[in-house]
Amino acid sequence: MRPETGHLIRLSDYLPPDYLIDTVDLDIKLDRHATHVRALLAIRPNPKGRAGAPLRLDGDELKATRIALNGIDLQPTAGFVTPDQLVIEKPPQEPFTLQVETVLDPAANTKFTGLYRSGSAYCTQCEAEGFRRITYFLDRPDVLSVYTTRIEADKAEAPVLLGNGNRQVSGDVPGTSRHFAVWHDPHPKPSYLFALVGGDLGHVRDSYTTKSGTPVELGIYVEKGKEARAAYAMDALKRSMRWDEDMFGREYDLDVFNIVAVSDFNMGAMENKGLNVFNDKYVLASSETATDADYAGIETVIAHEYFHNWTGNRITCRDWFQLCLKEGLTVFRDQEFSSDERSRTVKRIADVRTLRAAQFPEDSGPLAHNVRPDTYREINNFYTATVYNKGAEVIRMLKRFIGDKAFADGMALYFERFDGTAATVENFLSCFADASQRDLTQFKRWYEQAGTPLVSATSAYDAAAQTLTVDLKQSTAPTPGQSEKKPFVIPLSLGLIDHNGGAIALASEDAEAAELQSGTFILKSPERRITFRNVASKPVVSLLRNFSAPVRLQMAAGPEELLALLAHDSDGFNRWQAVQTYATDLLVQAVRSGEPTAPIDPRFIAAMDSVLVRAHEDPALAAQILALPSETDIAREIAKDIDPDAIFAARDHLQCTIGLALQPALTKIYAQYTETGAYSPDALSAGRRALRNSALAYLAAGDKALGLELAKAQFDGATNMTNRLGAAAALATLPGAARETMLKDFYARFADDALVIDKWFTLQATIPEAETLERVKGLMAHEAFSLANPNRTRALIGAFATGNQTQFHRADGAGYELVIDVVARLDATNPQVAARMLSAFRTWRTMDAPRQTKAEAALLRLKAKDKLSNDVADILTRTLA
Ligand code: TRP
Ligand code: ZN
Repeated sequence: MRPETGHLIRLSDYLPPDYLIDTVDLDIKLDRHATHVRALLAIRPNPKGRAGAPLRLDGDELKATRIALNGIDLQPTAGFVTPDQLVIEKPPQEPFTLQVETVLDPAANTKFTGLYRSGSAYCTQCEAEGFRRITYFLDRPDVLSVYTTRIEADKAEAPVLLGNGNRQVSGDVPGTSRHFAVWHDPHPKPSYLFALVGGDLGHVRDSYTTKSGTPVELGIYVEKGKEARAAYAMDALKRSMRWDEDMFGREYDLDVFNIVAVSDFNMGAMENKGLNVFNDKYVLASSETATDADYAGIETVIAHEYFHNWTGNRITCRDWFQLCLKEGLTVFRDQEFSSDERSRTVKRIADVRTLRAAQFPEDSGPLAHNVRPDTYREINNFYTATVYNKGAEVIRMLKRFIGDKAFADGMALYFERFDGTAATVENFLSCFADASQRDLTQFKRWYEQAGTPLVSATSAYDAAAQTLTVDLKQSTAPTPGQSEKKPFVIPLSLGLIDHNGGAIALASEDAEAAELQSGTFILKSPERRITFRNVASKPVVSLLRNFSAPVRLQMAAGPEELLALLAHDSDGFNRWQAVQTYATDLLVQAVRSGEPTAPIDPRFIAAMDSVLVRAHEDPALAAQILALPSETDIAREIAKDIDPDAIFAARDHLQCTIGLALQPALTKIYAQYTETGAYSPDALSAGRRALRNSALAYLAAGDKALGLELAKAQFDGATNMTNRLGAAAALATLPGAARETMLKDFYARFADDALVIDKWFTLQATIPEAETLERVKGLMAHEAFSLANPNRTRALIGAFATGNQTQFHRADGAGYELVIDVVARLDATNPQVAARMLSAFRTWRTMDAPRQTKAEAALLRLKAKDKLSNDVADILTRTLA
């Protein structure tokens, strides 16, 4: 049976709303099974809309108990109201009020969109289309309203009542055990930014004074008893507020800023105006329970949601096609913040790893879409790595293309012109075109064409003429619905290094002066040749420095050139890239040769040794350089007929060979970087721990007995989670009793700490051995497992599907079947999370023929189910197309 999918929504069909809603007055009486919502909407015809048009308000699973127009009751049985729509055929053509009462059952809301319960608290999630699950509304981002929300609840059940904006009044409801609070948000906003929270929560408080001297009260609300774990998030929040003032001139605009951490959340966090709601994994941290990576994630997500206050909230999106307008820009801003707070090079490497791991496969498979899509069936499926991460890359390229000054001026113009509006990508780009006096028509293709461009570069040195010719070409493979690709504007950062490792000054008649000065060359036609003059000896070309564009680079570079780049490049990113390229070449060759465990080129081992020798210069960078390309990195390079077992074997063999060959140097590093003193999550300390854990992984790969001994001691003696988990991960790769003992001990230590138990599930889901399938099935029956909790589901099933290549892609198809079973079950309760899980199949056509057959069978089995959500049906249809 063909799955039912919602109808196709097109950007080209956009029409302004026929009505506007100026104010929304809500009165919400919280109750587990019968929350009463009374909404009073002040509506008027939109001068830019169609005069006399019917008023169609969106709903989703709503139950209306009363509807009144200008105070006069309408019969809700009259046929104009259904669970998903409220239609007034002939509304007044002057301002009027609509009063609607709905009754909700938050305890039964398993989709975690709209009003739901997480633990003992009530909370909301309205992006993208969740407000319509609370009341009927013009639930689209271009309808901006001023909200006043009265929240009432039982005093004992929900002593804390939070809403958007500032708190106006609060008090007891006389003669009852209930109390209330009224929140008013003076900033007009779209419905997706509405939020409320009620519960018995603990909190930490702080304050912040803006540059112009306005005090802001800061609060972070968490599960009682976890208050101390919110300290780092609070610190990150204050640093974010300062940074946005310093770097973008943006101040906060309300008296209070609250963050609430909940344990049931479909995504990372949500930027509701003045009341951010977070997945608690991005708030709670202590040295015993959170790794350095967790701390970094908290810093990034706190900053991201805070930065949305200007890029997303003050200036929002006209429609959901413009999602990248707020998301790509805000990711760019959070990346820049973390770069300033930590190490710019290491952050860039981490971001590019994420882009390649999450976005490149999306862009080359059946789910490929533009940074700004033209169509969608389910908007929840477009909160993707393409919109977020490639969207951020496009902003980064724009900055490089027009220069830092014009970029800063363009941002200032954007805030000036579009503050308080719902804007488009065109609005955004017009600011930068004006600020730079450049035509951005061709640049805009980055928003309009999907697919990762392939840039191929060849260079030829003429010793007699002392010239170097660099030939550049670009091409982009077809993606679903787009067979012809026009050339992109690709900024390529380039440097030349001489044989002593020195930089060569760039001189050329084929390049513009600005290009020679900045070292960034613009490739905007299918081909370009640049001839460099006065090059005294054959140089090494360092291209795509700092990953100046989200492209795949193909450039013939042999070991000698790569080793020269590793040793001498002034661009830290390309030092890292040189080793990645070298290792990928070796591994792809090993897989293709059919002899994945053939002997390794000793020059590569020597290169890794040189990284260890220089590790003290920048331990965090060294740890990144030491990390071999992942199995999916290698698979992407091979691109088709993929056999994950061969890839695993080749990579494992390389890891083992290095571990054994460099045992003395690794042992030295391991001893030298032993933790001393109290834990601090700062980047330098984190880098030292990362380097030491990387040494441990190599040592364990090279010599199981030694690895076992070191990892056991590190696990037992660990005083922080980074070291404990580093040891646990090493032990997890070593089958035997020690591993099982560690897993038992780990569970016993952290049994009541959900976020740590998530790590325990992930550790086991990612063991690359055949027994893992049964282990995962067993864990699904574990008392601590529940499909109702998204973090737990992602920790076990998500980790299995995306973090265990050999087992998810088992040749017998059992990995696919397992994940499809979970998707089918989960779809009945939480379609958003189910759809995300299903997207693990997006690379299925790159697998070898037997695996493709198994994957297709599993997908078709899901398709045959008769009740699929729109979310899952949309992903499934596109995946199979
Ligand atoms: N706007 C959120 C962010 O990027 C994303 C988000 C949170 C979201 N919850 C969601 C998107 C639910 C879709 C559905 O910061
Ligand atoms: Zn965001």
